Amino acid sequence: MSVIDEIKAPISEELQQFKPYFEQKMLSNSRKLNFVVKYALKTKGKQMRPMIVFLSAKLLGNITQSTYTASALIELLHTATLVHDDVVDESFYRRGLFSIFALFKAKIAVLLGDFFLAKGLLLSLENNEYELLKIVSEAVKEMSEGELDQLEHARQLDTTEEDYFEVIRKKTATLISACSATGAYSAGANPEQMSIMKEFGTKLGIAFQIKDDLFDYQKTGLIGKPKFNDIQERKLTLPVIFALKNGSINESFSIRKIFKKKLKSKSDIHNIVDFVFKNGGVEYSVNKMNSLKDEAIALLNNFPDSDAKTALIKLAEYVVNRDK
Ligand code: IPE
Ligand code: IPE
Ligand code: MG
Ligand code: MG
Ligand code: MG
Repeated sequence: MSVIDEIKAPISEELQQFKPYFEQKMLSNSRKLNFVVKYALKTKGKQMRPMIVFLSAKLLGNITQSTYTASALIELLHTATLVHDDVVDESFYRRGLFSIFALFKAKIAVLLGDFFLAKGLLLSLENNEYELLKIVSEAVKEMSEGELDQLEHARQLDTTEEDYFEVIRKKTATLISACSATGAYSAGANPEQMSIMKEFGTKLGIAFQIKDDLFDYQKTGLIGKPKFNDIQERKLTLPVIFALKNGSINESFSIRKIFKKKLKSKSDIHNIVDFVFKNGGVEYSVNKMNSLKDEAIALLNNFPDSDAKTALIKLAEYVVNRDK
């Protein structure tokens, strides 16, 4: 059995039922819009967020209709943010295919993202899930703030390690935290359990984004999206932030200069990656990521052993070991 199959094992039936439920929630009455929606549905991504929602519910009790609503709501909003993210990042590939931005251009991508967002809001209202809506809306607000802060830092090229952690907590970890929190909530968790699960998701989410950012600097196979996009977009991520602080003043100065270039050649990229490796940026980031993952797993020890707990531990390990 693959690691992913092991993670899914305790919730395999639920995930099977989730698939058509989610797809149906994504569709529209407009034929034109559905054409694009169907393209967006061609690949479904790793579906890690629904897995976290379902496993968190199972960890605390039973999966309920609310668990499905939370999963669909979060995956809809996640998809919306990815469609928008590719416009912001000017990125042409997503999940191994052309991005909506590449294929249908910015206007359609912006509108499609808004449509998914609205579908998510409606879905929670139809089910009277105000608490879910509150948790998730808060996360979406934080995501937008995180994205804006990141944009500003990329412009200034001034991201410190502290800024970096704040940005990724906001843009990525809040939604992953919403997964574990809403999952727990849907199974009737008490406030103390909810806050542990929220913290679990935050730590896991930060580790998840460090891993994503490492893809520019580590040798991996096809990840389904463009490599070196962060470098091209002048996004200072943890590996390079650390290396710039640790490298010699002269070298850091010239790397900064390359980073500023609008168009970077193959050898520019090679020089940056080389510099980051040489100055311990990758090693440092891997260590940080692993400690956060360990802290996340340690939080699960507040709960008795179960299949769901074992699967969540495996999922945390997968987050830091995955190759896409
Ligand atoms: C990508 O998320 C966006 C980030 C927060 C880095 P995923 O890597 O979970 O994307 P999919 O859904 O599997 O494509
Ligand atoms: C994730 O950051 C941003 C979101 C929260 C949507 P990235 O811009 O690094 O995501 P990818 O790498 O394009 O998936
Ligand atoms: Mg981005
Ligand atoms: Mg991006
Ligand atoms: Mg990325």
